[in-house]
Amino acid sequence: MREKLHALQSEALEMIERVTKLDDLKGIRVKFLGKKGPITEVMRGLGQLSPEERPLMGQLVNEVREKIQAVMEEKQAALEAKQLEEQLASEQIDVTLPGRTVPVGSIHPLTRTIQTIEDIFIGLGFEVAEGPEVEMDHYNFEMLNLPKEHPARDMQDSFYITEETLLRTHTSPVQVRTLLAKAGQVPVKIICPGKVYRRDDDDATHSHQFTQIEGLVVDEGIRMSDLKGILLEFAKEMFGADQKIRLRPSFFPFTEPSTEVDISCMICKGEGCRVCKETGWIEILGAGMVHPNVLRGAGYDPERYTGFAFGMGVERVAMLKHGVEDIRNFYTNDLRFLRQFSHL
Ligand code: PHE
Repeated sequence: MREKLHALQSEALEMIERVTKLDDLKGIRVKFLGKKGPITEVMRGLGQLSPEERPLMGQLVNEVREKIQAVMEEKQAALEAKQLEEQLASEQIDVTLPGRTVPVGSIHPLTRTIQTIEDIFIGLGFEVAEGPEVEMDHYNFEMLNLPKEHPARDMQDSFYITEETLLRTHTSPVQVRTLLAKAGQVPVKIICPGKVYRRDDDDATHSHQFTQIEGLVVDEGIRMSDLKGILLEFAKEMFGADQKIRLRPSFFPFTEPSTEVDISCMICKGEGCRVCKETGWIEILGAGMVHPNVLRGAGYDPERYTGFAFGMGVERVAMLKHGVEDIRNFYTNDLRFLRQFSHL
């Protein structure tokens, strides 16, 4: 029995020695120390031994079992450590590798231009107002001193939805809506950005849908020189500190007097080039002093209050600023075009 135990011990230790996987070690534990294993069997047989031999053999069995157990635990710890090491090695992160870039979109050049223009006017104390794109004839025309059959309605060919509603042809109706909402209070100092629609044939400089930013200031004592000062400041902030502006007489039914505003050509600096058609000047917006009929209609006494308004095309500003030659580029969404503005 003694030899048998010694043989069992060396067999077990040898197997443990060779084992490389934790699962196999478990198998060995069951095989040698399990309820049906040889050690248990020897222990069960102890009862049949003589009283002198029994404690000696009992002690030996315990020693063998403890030895196997101890070696097994050691091996288990070693295998677990090895496994952890392997896991750590395989999951190692190289923190010096550059990260994977996630493709993200960029702000559309028109949106960016609107934001830039808004920032400039907010800096000058203006607030941003918005209004509906499906507008009533009443606000789009009538309240702006353009009664039905007024010939100047032809200046803005319109998409009518019903007889009384249309896609707004300019953002001027937001002026009327704002004045009405203010109910006679001053100062009014707003800009209104938004999409507008006209029945134009699309070409390099026309689009049936485009973007306008309109401005309106109403208070006591507002003069044409205020309009000029604000627009000069805008031109400088938008296109550079050496910008000049020039006012030319014009006509809009909702302003009197009305003016067309040119800025000095930012490409040739006034020398004359293809973009400014050799004039040194580029037209960028329409403006004027708010017509007394418009003020009166919106509840402001034109004897007491005066105001100026202006309206510009955002596409035109963006084209001049970035040298874009075809307005349709803003709408066809060719990524090669859009990506050129991703840094803005
Ligand atoms: N609403 C005019 C247009 O779309 C522009 C404008 C606005 C002119 C305000 C004068 C004053 O053509």
